[in-house]
Amino acid sequence: MCQPAASNQTTATVLFNKQLTKTQYLLRLQAPRGVEEAKPGHFIHLNCHPSLTLPRPFSILDSDINQGTLDIFYQVVGEGTQYMAGWQAGFETTMLSPIGCHFKQPDAGHNAMLIAGGIGYAPLDFFARQLKKQGVQTTLLLGLESDPPFELTTSNTPLLPFEPIKNPVSLTRQESFGIPSRLASFEAKPGFFHGYVTELAARILQEMDNQQREKTVLYICGPTPMMKAAAKVAVKFNIGGQVSLEEHMACGFGGCAGCVAPIKDADDGWNYRRVCTDGPVFDLKDVVWDKI
Ligand SMILES: Cc1cc2nc3c(=O)[nH]c(=O)nc-3n(C[C@H](O)[C@H](O)[C@H](O)COP(=O)(O)OP(=O)(O)OC[C@H]3O[C@@H](n4cnc5c(N)ncnc54)[C@H](O)[C@@H]3O)c2cc1C
Ligand code: FES
Repeated sequence: MCQPAASNQTTATVLFNKQLTKTQYLLRLQAPRGVEEAKPGHFIHLNCHPSLTLPRPFSILDSDINQGTLDIFYQVVGEGTQYMAGWQAGFETTMLSPIGCHFKQPDAGHNAMLIAGGIGYAPLDFFARQLKKQGVQTTLLLGLESDPPFELTTSNTPLLPFEPIKNPVSLTRQESFGIPSRLASFEAKPGFFHGYVTELAARILQEMDNQQREKTVLYICGPTPMMKAAAKVAVKFNIGGQVSLEEHMACGFGGCAGCVAPIKDADDGWNYRRVCTDGPVFDLKDVVWDKI
């Protein structure tokens, strides 16, 4: 399930690097290896520039085994991502790929509610489409305070059992697969839920009957405050799930302990575990949220 990063070094060639919003890009990389193994929740550790000692971690948004490509959805925040924004088709770099533990499917008969915040959308986009292919009833909720990075459309896939937004918009990427997605924002945007994405999740769960709620599994990725709020929603409704944690990373292969997070262990205590090799995906109930 978890990919051993140290042996996953490969080259990567930029096929395109498309600007989606003022600060967000969609990067497609051709990679001679690591594409077939890539699963939702895995990430790559990408060398952005020779002047930067450390690579930077990015979740895999999509993979195409036939074409040998990986897609990355990234936001420019600092030096490394600024270098990436300047990459043109044909640019070559190296990376570790794929790394980490991926999301696990829900048990048979369960449904999935995916809750994403901002750039945390990347691994959940990939996972939503995989779940749908495998016949899992899936809903994707995205909290967004900036311009939508991907095309939106009027939703034709109603949420079951409760529609919390009048004339909701949905992500075309998901809608084309028949996956209902809903967006939340604090800006008044038509077709969006007004508020936190975690409030939207709570509203939907509240409207479910007990049987449907008990069969719902949450999958979460986003900024830490959002993930903490989503973990509280899980506790409130007594449901389980998984979360993809984000920590600053150095080596990316378990050698430096620079990326640790507090995770419960078997004897009711907790220990620091490495997000790069033991995660980034952890069981929601195992994360010691008040120590993050
Ligand atoms: C498992 C994992 C998956 C990720 N997936 C994505 C993704 O799909 N798309 C994406 O855009 N970003 C993703 N990130 C975050 C991304 O790695 C950082 O934004 C990137 O390393 C910043 O590099 P930089 O050199 O541009 O910025 P730096 O100059 O290193 O930092 C600029 C700012 O970003 C913050 N930052 C740096 N690294 C991280 C980090 N790991 N987590 C949170 N904040 C950070 C710094 O505190 C600083 O404020 C992921 C991180 C992890 C750990
Ligand atoms: S980044 Fe070095 S152990 Fe995780």
